[in-house]
Amino acid sequence: MVAWLAAGAIMVAVYVLIYYNFIKGVQCKSDTSLRGKTVIVTGANTGLGKETALDMARRGARVILACRCKQRAESAVFDIRKKSGNNKVIFMQLDLASLKSVRAFAENFLKSEPQLHILINNAGIGGSNNKTADGFNMVWGVNHLGHFLLTQLLLDRLKQCAPSRIVVLASKAYRIGKIDFNDLDPPHNGIIQGFQNYSFSKLCNILFARELANCLEGTNITCYSVHPGCVNTEVFRDLKFWQKVLFVPIIALFFQTPADGAQTSIYCAVQEDIEKFSGRYFADCKVQEVLPHARDDAVARKLWEISERMANLGSH
Ligand SMILES: NC(=O)c1ccc[n+]([C@@H]2O[C@H](COP(=O)([O-])OP(=O)(O)OC[C@H]3O[C@@H](n4cnc5c(N)ncnc54)[C@H](OP(=O)(O)O)[C@@H]3O)[C@@H](O)[C@H]2O)c1
Ligand SMILES: *[C@@H]1O[C@H](CO)[C@@H](O)[C@H](O)[C@H]1NC(C)=O
Ligand SMILES: *[C@@H]1O[C@H](CO)[C@@H](O)[C@H](O)[C@H]1NC(C)=O
Ligand SMILES: *[C@@H]1O[C@H](CO)[C@@H](O)[C@H](O)[C@H]1NC(C)=O
Repeated sequence: MVAWLAAGAIMVAVYVLIYYNFIKGVQCKSDTSLRGKTVIVTGANTGLGKETALDMARRGARVILACRCKQRAESAVFDIRKKSGNNKVIFMQLDLASLKSVRAFAENFLKSEPQLHILINNAGIGGSNNKTADGFNMVWGVNHLGHFLLTQLLLDRLKQCAPSRIVVLASKAYRIGKIDFNDLDPPHNGIIQGFQNYSFSKLCNILFARELANCLEGTNITCYSVHPGCVNTEVFRDLKFWQKVLFVPIIALFFQTPADGAQTSIYCAVQEDIEKFSGRYFADCKVQEVLPHARDDAVARKLWEISERMANLGSH
């Protein structure tokens, strides 16, 4: 009995050590105030987006939660207002799986909000076998293309409010991402290929931020891509039942909380003196090197052109 208790205590102690040393992660220490600033966070009704929006609200910003589901978003608005004591938190409808909805959101926002200082392209999905309203691969459409169009439509407002920032949620999964421009919509089936859908879209996020920084040089708008860490959010909601049985205990024990996972997004949104790293990829509140395929400017350029065409945008 005593031996069992001792073994239990040792396991808890080891877990606590592992937790604080390897799981919790680096915290953003900046105390930048966002009073008088306006922030958009996409997919802010849950997970990393909600925690990021809460932090922005605590800093005094006016925060727009750009979400697809009114009911889920209104409940997040309520929570964030209550926790931050900031009432300038509002919902605006945005479904990134529809270019029409992205355009409607931008129009609505530009009409009703005079300012924009920080845009956080956070929303994302892990998998789907559906298509977007425009017939594109759903994961690519939501994670990359919808945000690509959204960013373009809001650039002028960001320019007027410079210095301003754009934060793009990517993922370390980019490492196995591959781009085949001849086949942007391959029939990826099965769990490995499903992950390819995701990692491909996350590679696009990194390449987009890179090319965007080139285009924005001299404007005082900067942009950053982010790997938040491995975070226990609803991003795993698409796992099949047997996968959940297998992974949920691991995720619960060894993944970060959404509040810890949001730290690098927050860092890129508010940290002073990181402008020289515009276009780069951040994790653990630090700029990181990426693998060669994620810093290929020719591919980034081509991705940009293809995205413009798919989103029906003129050249910039
Ligand atoms: N969690 C991780 O370990 C991890 C690791 C690396 C990168 N990331 C990235 O971090 C970002 C945030 O993910 P999370 O972990 O916080 O996931 P999450 O808890 O599943 O939240 C995703 C958010 O995106 C929204 N969203 C999905 N499809 C949308 C659409 N068509 N239009 C508008 N909003 C949409 C969701 O809205 P609904 O609630 O209405 O569906 C939700 O608010 C994602 O870009 C993800 O790829 C996460
Ligand atoms: C697939 O996407 C379309 C268009 O976005 C949507 O209307 C439909 O409900 C979705 N179907 C499923 C099964 O999610
Ligand atoms: C990958 O995306 C394609 C295109 O949307 C889809 O048909 C396929 O089912 C997806 N694969 C998985 C495993 O989710
Ligand atoms: C960018 O900011 C710097 C420093 O505040 C300023 O001198 C410069 O005029 C700004 N450039 C533009 C294009 O706004």
